[in-house]
Parts: sequence; structure tokens; C-alpha cells
Amino acid sequence: MHPTGYPALDALLPRLDAVAGLDAHALEAERIAVLGRKQGALTAAMKTLATLPIEERKRFGAEVNRLKEAFESALAARGAALATQHPASGIQDLSMPGRGRWIGALHPITRVMDELIGIFRELGFAVAVGPEAETEWYNFGALNFPADHPAMDMHDTLYLSQGPGEKVLLRTHTSPVQIRVMQAGPPPYRVVIPGMVYRNDTADASHTPAFLQLEGLAVDEGIGFVDLKATLTHFAHRFFSPTTKVRFRPSYFPFTEPSAELDVECQLCHGGGCPVCKQTGWMELLGCGMVHPAVLTNCGVDAEKYTGWAFGLGPGRTALQRYDIPDLRLLSTADMRVLRQLAGQADA
Ligand code: DAH
Repeated sequence: MHPTGYPALDALLPRLDAVAGLDAHALEAERIAVLGRKQGALTAAMKTLATLPIEERKRFGAEVNRLKEAFESALAARGAALATQHPASGIQDLSMPGRGRWIGALHPITRVMDELIGIFRELGFAVAVGPEAETEWYNFGALNFPADHPAMDMHDTLYLSQGPGEKVLLRTHTSPVQIRVMQAGPPPYRVVIPGMVYRNDTADASHTPAFLQLEGLAVDEGIGFVDLKATLTHFAHRFFSPTTKVRFRPSYFPFTEPSAELDVECQLCHGGGCPVCKQTGWMELLGCGMVHPAVLTNCGVDAEKYTGWAFGLGPGRTALQRYDIPDLRLLSTADMRVLRQLAGQADA
């Protein structure tokens, strides 16, 4: 900028040239010293305006403004240059990594559910879903529960209506979706059925009144218990490890005959016995069995021609085994510390 002809203003010109060499601190100090509203040099110069002869005032005012603009753009240019420079020079270090922010993660039970479904999808199973509010017929009757079965008691089951007509309840298991799948079309069926189920239960370390289940159903011509055993053993080996020991124990469900429970070797003590497996060395993974002919018949499937097997498991309890969690309630209190820790474990 060329001289203004006013000594008070021209005295600032060397400082204008010097701006380009200032560091961040000096730059801010210079901004205040020159442009500051209270004590800035240009503000002070403007205040002398009234002491000048009238004819001078306009030109002086214009020169002050030019100088002010020149300082403003020099300061801004220097500020921008510093911002893209090496950290040591000040304002901002653009190469510094940002502060990590946890954006969340899939819930451990969701992870387990996804993994379980993934294994069955590889085996050719499709995913089916059904309603959470069911009639007594779908939840019990069609599944071959006798009319006076204790599971239908108010103490075990959450009924939605008690009026005349068929009772409606929150399904106590995902098994009624087997019925809906079979009613929807002819065999063969190979499905897994994820979903929430509800029971009139008090929460404890291994129970919650609302929980997830994964149901499975395979019906075709010529399916036998060997298919059930081979498929579920393969599944347990895929989910835990190829060397995990499994055993089938006889059991009872109204909708399967014969029925069994599948146990896997305790994942914590590997069979040695510990508090989690109550010293047995085994953990119950799922209930299963050959679909009862009465269930097939209830769905209009020819039980002379078709046979099949089914299973039901609780991914919540499976997650406890997978992640070594002592209490199911830890997974439903939305305590971010628990979820964060488990997310880290699952990522590892
Ligand atoms: N519905 C059973 C329950 O909730 C679990 C179950 C057992 C499902 C055996 C099945 C099965 O399909 O075959 O306790």
C-alpha cells in the first residue's frame, strides 16, 4: 500500500508489511493493537478525525478505511497460511488424529442371533417370522399340548384377553410359527424362525420374562433322526468349535416324538466342572425332536409321507456362553459399560 500522506497512518505501513511474518500469537496481538475497538491504532486515528479541518476529513477517513481493509486482509491471509502449516507454528494441527468417538455396536444377542441364522442359511434354511400375539390354538393346541397343560396356566402365560371366543396371548415360544409356515404351503420346509417370546416369569440370572428364541423346522420325505443329529452337531461345531463335545439327552415336548436336549461341553471349564455349568461340565444349548405326526396332521401335512425335525434355542443364553457373562440381566439393562466392553470383546 502506498503512503497516505498522513504521518500517523504512514507509521503503520511497516507493520502492515510485517504481518506476513508473524506467528499465531503475535498475529492475534497485532490484530488487537491495530484493529481493536478500544485501543487499536486505527480506532485511535479515526478519533482524531474531528480535530481536522472539514475539507480534510473525507480524505483522511477514506485513507483510514483503506488501511483498515489492508490490515484485515493481511491478517486473514497470514492466519490461513499458519493454519495449514506445521503444528509448531500454531493455530491448528490438521494432521492430528481426531478424538475417537464410540458410535455404538450391535448388541451381543443380536450378534449371536445373526451368526446362528447365518449358519443355517448356509445349510439352505430360509428365515420365517410370525406374530407375537397368538391364539391358544397356534401357541398350544396345534402343537399337540393337551387341553389342560400347565403351561397354559395364567401363572406361566401372559393373556391379552379373557373375553368370550378364542383366548389371545403373548406367544410363549416361537413354535407356533412352525404351524403358520406349514399352513402357508406344501412341504418341503427348511426354515429358521427368530423372534421375541413372553412368559410370566420373574427375572433371574438365567430368565427374563421377554426373550429371543430361534426356532428351526425341517420337513421333507425321508427325513430321520440321523438328519437332526447330524445337522445340529454340525451347527454346534460351527458355532463353538469343531472339537466341542456335544451330547443328546432324551427329553419331552408335546410337539416332538422322540424329543431331546442338545448339550455342549461347557465353554468355560471344557468339561472339568465349574460353577457356571453347576459342576456338570455340560451346558444345555437347545431342545429338539422329530415333529410329532399329530402336529403335521394339524397343519394338513400328510404324516405318512413326510417327516421332519425341529429345534428351539435361546440366543440370550447362548450369548452368555459365548461371551462368558454370568447373568442374563446384564444384557437387558442397557448399561453402556457392559455393552461397550462386550462390543470390544466381540470385535477382538
Ligand atoms: N418351544 C420350546 C420351548 O420354548 C423349545 C423347542 C423344543 C422347540 C423342541 C422345538 C423343539 O421346535 O423341537 O421351550
